[in-house]
Amino acid sequence: MSDAALQPATQPPREMARRLAGPDAEVVIRVTDLEVGFGPKTIMKHLNLDVRRGEILGFVGASGTGKSVLTRAILGLVPKRAGKIEVFGEDLDRLSRAARKAIEQRWGVLFQQGALFSSLTVKQNVQVPMREYLHLSERLLDELAMLKIEMVGLSPDAADKFPSDLSGGMIKRAALARALALDPDIVFLDEPTSGLDPIGAGEFDELISTLQQTLGLTVFMVTHDLDSLHSVCDRIAALGEGKIIAEGTIETMLASTNPWLKAYFHGKRARAAFSAGN
Ligand SMILES: Nc1ncnc2c1ncn2[C@@H]1O[C@H](COP(=O)(O)OP(=O)(O)OP(=O)(O)O)[C@@H](O)[C@H]1O
Ligand SMILES: [Mg+2]
Repeated sequence: MSDAALQPATQPPREMARRLAGPDAEVVIRVTDLEVGFGPKTIMKHLNLDVRRGEILGFVGASGTGKSVLTRAILGLVPKRAGKIEVFGEDLDRLSRAARKAIEQRWGVLFQQGALFSSLTVKQNVQVPMREYLHLSERLLDELAMLKIEMVGLSPDAADKFPSDLSGGMIKRAALARALALDPDIVFLDEPTSGLDPIGAGEFDELISTLQQTLGLTVFMVTHDLDSLHSVCDRIAALGEGKIIAEGTIETMLASTNPWLKAYFHGKRARAAFSAGN
């Protein structure tokens, strides 16, 4: 057997995933020349971004630059003024209702705010997308929800709890279970580790990484967490002044001369995160 044939088995899983999500990987989300604004305010203009199949893309940028707005624009939750958004090669503006619904079933979302409905239990929260898109018996809905709850590392007795009875970390896990409800191909995670202590955040990162590998997910992750960027992201894109100011591996970010990126990736907190990770 040649060395090349032996190589994948000897590489750690993260490296394998990186290779699979390399520059030749299929583009699953393509944003072209996007413009979004509210009233007189323009949040982004001429923004271009590709997300490739099987990668974990970390999306960074100063607070208020529009990371959540871009996420919501891709999901069709805020209107765009110009540009094109393609998901799985389909222009979202040109889809019939049925085709649009079919695409919506292939993505799951963990929102930055209001991750869960407070009046519903964890199980009922996980079942919300299932009820919207699938027609299943109550028994099957319960079985599926319990499976997702287990998948994110929550104990079965968390299923009947309300969000107010959960810790921050459990809420994030429950929200992830809901994002995975429809067995999506893509998950959008908006600040999934914010508010968690470093150990909880690290465990959540590991969970995302494991799920990404076992389920073959493509992950679009907005994050401020330098540890997450370092340990789980294959590629990073940075937003500033309404555009992507840098895109590439963590090494590309570290080499950037952009003042915000320099301050972010070479600041005190960055040094602590990167020396801990190395
Ligand atoms: N529905 C809306 N109507 C008007 N302005 C909005 C709306 N949603 C967001 N904005 C504005 O768009 C800008 C970008 O907001 P966004 O929430 O995307 O920032 P962000 O990069 O996600 O910040 P953070 O890191 O703090 O979450 C902000 O100035 C915000 O006030
Ligand atoms: Mg945000």
